Amino acid sequence: MPLLAFETSCDETSVAVVRDGYVLWSAVSSQIKLHAEYGGVVPELAAREHLRNLLPVAEAALAGAGVKPHQLNAVAATRGPGLPNALLVGFKAAQGMAFVLRKPFFGIHHHEAHLYSPWITGNPLAAEFGAFEPNVSLIVSGGHTMLVHVESELKHRVLGSTIDDAAGECFDKVGKLIGLPYPGGPEIDRLARLGNPKAYDFPRPLLRDATDDFSFSGLKTSVRYFLRDHPEIAEDAERIHDLCASVQAAIVEVLVTKTLRAAKRLGVGCVTASGGVTCNRALRASLTAGCREAGLKLRLAEPSLCTDNAAMVGILAERKLMNQSEETSLDAEIMPGWELE
Ligand code: KG4
Ligand code: ZN
Repeated sequence: MPLLAFETSCDETSVAVVRDGYVLWSAVSSQIKLHAEYGGVVPELAAREHLRNLLPVAEAALAGAGVKPHQLNAVAATRGPGLPNALLVGFKAAQGMAFVLRKPFFGIHHHEAHLYSPWITGNPLAAEFGAFEPNVSLIVSGGHTMLVHVESELKHRVLGSTIDDAAGECFDKVGKLIGLPYPGGPEIDRLARLGNPKAYDFPRPLLRDATDDFSFSGLKTSVRYFLRDHPEIAEDAERIHDLCASVQAAIVEVLVTKTLRAAKRLGVGCVTASGGVTCNRALRASLTAGCREAGLKLRLAEPSLCTDNAAMVGILAERKLMNQSEETSLDAEIMPGWELE
């Protein structure tokens, strides 16, 4: 029996239909272009755009899956963390549907959903929980950077997270300093391909510290001072390539080193990664090489599932339904500051 899932925690309006571990349809409407002219996500605009897009996106998901509302078995939505007014749109719509259909409702933790997105793969997309094994999971996006020990299905422990900026935020802020369009991450990734990652030496914050926490604001500040002291670089296309490659190398080295170190320390045989920054080519290549060398299995979320999507929310909710996890009350509230336990 199919389950309908909503995700509106930030700037993607997404609705998915899942059944028996398969993603029957995942519809995503991205607001990136809307926010680009402001250089970042504007919360009020995001919420209004979700309101405008939610029903057409839900119609598209149901039509694509060939499922009628009365055939749904359960409804789920991201409950937090996220932008309050953005979360409200998907969460309240989902509760309304569950109420009308008299079906179970699941309010899902956004980061917990990310933990399972690397297990959704193939064509058609399906969750490979049969192959599940304990892992260290890197969640790395514009809003979060964290390492989580996933001990077993639905059981996890946060090892560390960023104490200031997220890695994606660092990419985006450095992009802004260089004068690149928003979001800077994909632009830096593109320009870095033609650059020398060893051209400039930027700090690798907390790399040598035993902690699993991250910090990226100092790296961004060092790029600001670097550009202040070398303004000519911003005018030189070739050196911009080198600058992008060098900043990217610093971010990637920190992410990969800390992830592999945690995996070795905990004795897990598997590493997973998800979140928008997991689209980054250098990060994918470096995690692939590092895991091969360390004898670890690696599961990278499919690029279409790296960024926020309702498919991961639906897959996790269905798992909770099957495990008879507690349902979420229909008068439960959103939790914008919900921390992963
Ligand atoms: O997961 P996501 O769509 O949204 C949240 O922040 O939750 O991630 C967006 C972030 C942005 O900071 C964007 O610059 C970054 O992911 N990003 C990338 C790449 N693609 C997206 N960063 C580096 N390289 C990329 N290829
Ligand atoms: Zn996310």
